Amino acid sequence: MEQQIIEIDRADWRSGNADPAWIAALEAGKVLYFPRLAFGLSASERRFLAPAVRDPKSRNISLDAEGRLKGALGDAVAQAALAAMIGRFRTQAKALIDGLLPQYSGALRLAPTSYRPMKVESRQQSVRADDRRLHVDAFPSRPNRGERILRVFTNLNPDGEARVWRVGEPFETVAGRFLPKAAPYSAWKARALHALHVTKSLRSEYDHLMLQIHDGMKSDPDYQSNAAQVTMPFPAGSSWVCFSDQTSHAVMSGQYMMEQTLHLPVERQYDAASSPLAILTRLCGRPLI
Ligand code: SIN
Ligand code: FE
Repeated sequence: MEQQIIEIDRADWRSGNADPAWIAALEAGKVLYFPRLAFGLSASERRFLAPAVRDPKSRNISLDAEGRLKGALGDAVAQAALAAMIGRFRTQAKALIDGLLPQYSGALRLAPTSYRPMKVESRQQSVRADDRRLHVDAFPSRPNRGERILRVFTNLNPDGEARVWRVGEPFETVAGRFLPKAAPYSAWKARALHALHVTKSLRSEYDHLMLQIHDGMKSDPDYQSNAAQVTMPFPAGSSWVCFSDQTSHAVMSGQYMMEQTLHLPVERQYDAASSPLAILTRLCGRPLI
């Protein structure tokens, strides 16, 4: 399998200067990996590196686009300091993307920024929710009609523990394997799911197929063990970027990570033909949205 991880040696979130080869690699579904790009914490922020900052009722801590902190415990002062820390990561993650991918600027839609203080290995999850299985991101309640899911991650682990991912084969290979097994799209079911508020908007055929691929990958143990893949330990103090709706990925272990999601309209890509929407449309031979 072709190289799936592209290493970029820079230590500054704002240094700009994109290499067109990195852009093409990212849009081809590869992971841009920055071994020396760390998110710095102040001495007082280190107290947030503890699972107890999370409200056990939430999966993650997040800062929404309006700046509201969710899922955290602690008094108002501590919560404001935590919100500031997550907000600083948001600013740096956006600066990184603006510098690397200037054509996206002005078109990115900010999703909540998340802080994940929990140990990956100890999470018990249903098959569909288990991110320790290779998958491409697709969310049952949030149809996106092809809009891209671009994510910036940084490993904050204070004990030098890596965040270990597996990265799988290119999207077109994944799609070629799971599309033939996908259940057919049903427009009336999509309308019913929307009417029942199971989905926030109408699930398009594209969204249906992405979910079928996501579920098909996760529920196939043979695929999980035997598909072409690399194990990639992202060290503490490193960052990485990928289109998670395209990159086959799984998280195996680690603790303390920040993540920023940015949504991008397909037509703002440098090469829209490399998008999952374009690939699935081509493979199916009909419009999917
Ligand atoms: C995922 O997006 O599947 C999880 C990534 C992570 O928690 O490292
Ligand atoms: Fe994922």
